[in-house]
Amino acid sequence: MVIAIDGPAGTGKSTIAGMLSRGISGRDGRPFTYINSGNLYRAVTLGCLRLGITPSDPDTALGYARKAPLVYRDGRLYLGEEMVEDLLHSDEVDRHVSPLSAIVPVRHVVNDHVRKLAAGLNVVVEGRDMTTVVFPGAEYRFYLDASIRERARRRFDQGLSALTLEEIEKTIAERDSLDRNKEEGSLIVGEGVIYLDTSDLTLTQVYDKLVEIIH
Ligand code: DC
Repeated sequence: MVIAIDGPAGTGKSTIAGMLSRGISGRDGRPFTYINSGNLYRAVTLGCLRLGITPSDPDTALGYARKAPLVYRDGRLYLGEEMVEDLLHSDEVDRHVSPLSAIVPVRHVVNDHVRKLAAGLNVVVEGRDMTTVVFPGAEYRFYLDASIRERARRRFDQGLSALTLEEIEKTIAERDSLDRNKEEGSLIVGEGVIYLDTSDLTLTQVYDKLVEIIH
């Protein structure tokens, strides 16, 4: 069973997807595995930067993406032997990940990874095109949204960025624009996808709404 969640940066998708994967089980009684597709793009970006490859260069970035040793072990993302999840939200990765994710053949490589990871499992998958391109036939499809101001405030409060609130707001607006104008896998509210504006909702309220719909 697949629960797919899309939406722009900072809407609480990752937290909600993680809460869902821990809080509910599939119809077959088996637990859910949480897959954060943005983290795959981020890990490929990190690998490129470490090797001196420009993540926006289509040929070399694709060459790396094809052989990147992306592995999920115990629900954590590894690059080879190294658990990299804690390294994926630096300002440098933030800056380079969007251009890399706009490279269409790189998207195909990541999409293949996500589908393979999900095969035969109950999964909560989250990203920008999970409900539209990667799992259009998912049992449940959600789009979580929030105002730019609110999303910037949430990122700022995480304390992971050296940027000011205004600078974060600006980078989010730029990322939104890139995410919404991709040649393939653009961020859109797909037909039949359940839309939820979370600007004035707490995480628990969003979680409760989704669980109510799923049940
Ligand atoms: O969700 P995130 O901010 O960690 O995603 C990182 C980047 O990857 C962001 O620029 C959007 C992009 N992305 C994408 O294009 N498609 C996805 N399915 C997930 C993320």
